[in-house]
Formats: sequence, structure tokens, C-alpha cells
Amino acid sequence: MSTISVFCKKGGVGKTTFIGYLGHYYAKQGKKVLIISADDQNSIFKIFGEDDKIFESDDNYLEFYIAGRAELGDLLIPVRENLYLIKTLNTDKLSMKLTYERAQEKVIKSMFKEYATFFDYILVDFPPSSSRLTEILLEISDHVCIVVGLDTLGLGGFWNTIQYFIDNELDLESIKYIIPNGYSKNRRAPKVSLEKLQEQVQEFTPHAKLLNPIADRSIVKNLQAEGISAFDEVELPPYDRGLKEQLEKDLKALFDELEF
Ligand SMILES: Nc1ncnc2c1ncn2[C@@H]1O[C@H](COP(=O)(O)OP(=O)(O)OP(=O)(O)O)[C@@H](O)[C@H]1O
Ligand SMILES: [Mg+2]
Repeated sequence: MSTISVFCKKGGVGKTTFIGYLGHYYAKQGKKVLIISADDQNSIFKIFGEDDKIFESDDNYLEFYIAGRAELGDLLIPVRENLYLIKTLNTDKLSMKLTYERAQEKVIKSMFKEYATFFDYILVDFPPSSSRLTEILLEISDHVCIVVGLDTLGLGGFWNTIQYFIDNELDLESIKYIIPNGYSKNRRAPKVSLEKLQEQVQEFTPHAKLLNPIADRSIVKNLQAEGISAFDEVELPPYDRGLKEQLEKDLKALFDELEF
């Protein structure tokens, strides 16, 4: 079992997209996958077109387990075969609780241990803002992946993330992969950003592996608007089908390289 966090202190860089596709890829290989949304926007549900499930029930948020008002099994929301999501209600409030009631931290840690007996992978999706919850979850993760947007702001996000680890005494060596997102061979900015990122990775996280960049593909947004994951088998018009196949091929090549 591996606990994998996908993090970056910059919003909108593709964290949730990456985690959703990776989780679905593993689930399709027959692995049991749990994705915990530490982001109370719960946008991971959108990747699978399951937004309705966020509001279907109001007693199965992560916080209810921590407060002793729900069982572990109650939190699991199935979205695909072998793939379950957990939603959060208010991460700021939860973080306050975690700061003032230290015993709650133990509850979270034992929760991960319990889930680890059932799931092959536990993936954690974070908001770009940081909180006590973020620190705890990053600390208990076996591996951390940083998704970096390939533009000037994205690079700033990488640097802020490194600074955040240093400030909070988090282990920089837990960062296993750096994943550049939004590459385009016809545009200059992503290429330049990628070169700069290579330098920064060398300097600040030399033990981490910088993966091949994920291309900026319009089909990603189109599929998400329809609630279709890259690994769903669906009927599409020929042009879109071609784009989706290309996306799947890219993602498979990337995911097969990962060792968790
Ligand atoms: N490779 C890509 N090509 C094109 N669009 C992409 C790609 N990756 C992500 N996107 C789009 O970028 C937007 C932001 O992606 P996503 O929600 O995954 O980012 P995030 O880092 O999780 O954001 P937040 O910080 O708000 O949680 C979404 O509309 C998504 O469809
Ligand atoms: Mg997100």
C-alpha cells in the first residue's frame, strides 16, 4: 500500500486532474484505490462527473468520522469500479480543530492505517492553500508529487512549495516526482519554463525525478465538462475519439514510469 499526495502551492495547475486520472488508471488495473479530497471544493468528483454525490448525503464528510459520528465505511463514495472518494466539509475548520485538539491528529493517522488494510493506493488531493491538515497529510504520505504549471506563475508555485516544506520542516526527500503540466511545443513560454524548472529541480530537490511534461490538451477540459475521465470507455465523435486516445496514450506512458 502507498499513500501518495499530489501537491502544489499554486492553484489551477492540474493537481486534481492528475490525481483523478492516476487513480482511475490504477483502479482499471484491478487495484483498490481511495482518493481523499483534502480540498473542501471536492473538485475531484467533477473529474468523474459525480458532482451530485457531493450533496447526496450530508453525514458522510471526513469530519464526521473524526468527530466519531460516522464509521470508516460510511465515508467511502464509489465513483468507478475499485475507485472510492472521500469528501471534506470545511478544511479550515478541521485544521483549527487539529491545531487545538492534538488527539484528533491520532484519529487521522489511525484512519489511514485502517484504510491501508483494504486499499492498494490512497491518493490525497490538496487545495493550493495550506493548513494544519495539509501538514499532517503530507507528513504521513509515503510519496509526494508536485505538479507544476509551465508558466511564470507556475514556476513561482514550485518555489513557494519548496519554501513551504522548509518553513514547516517537512521532508523535502519525500518529494518523489515533479510533474510539469501544460506543455506545448508550439509555444515559447512553456519551453522556457521547463528549462528553468529543470535548473530549479537540480538545485532544490535533486533527489526528485522530473517527469516528461504533460501536454496542454483541449480535450482535457472538454471531457471534464462532460464528466468523462480519460480512462472511461465512451462513444465519442471521431475527432474527439482521436484526441482522447492520444491523451490516454500520453498518460499511460507517464503513469507506467511511476514507481510507488
Ligand atoms: N494537461 C492539460 N491540458 C489542458 N487542460 C488541463 C490540463 N490539466 C488540467 N487542465 C485543466 O486546468 C484546469 C485546472 O485543473 P485542476 O482542477 O486539475 O487543477 P488544480 O491544481 O487541482 O486546481 P485547484 O488548485 O483549484 O485545486 C481544469 O479546467 C482542467 O481541465
Ligand atoms: Mg484541485
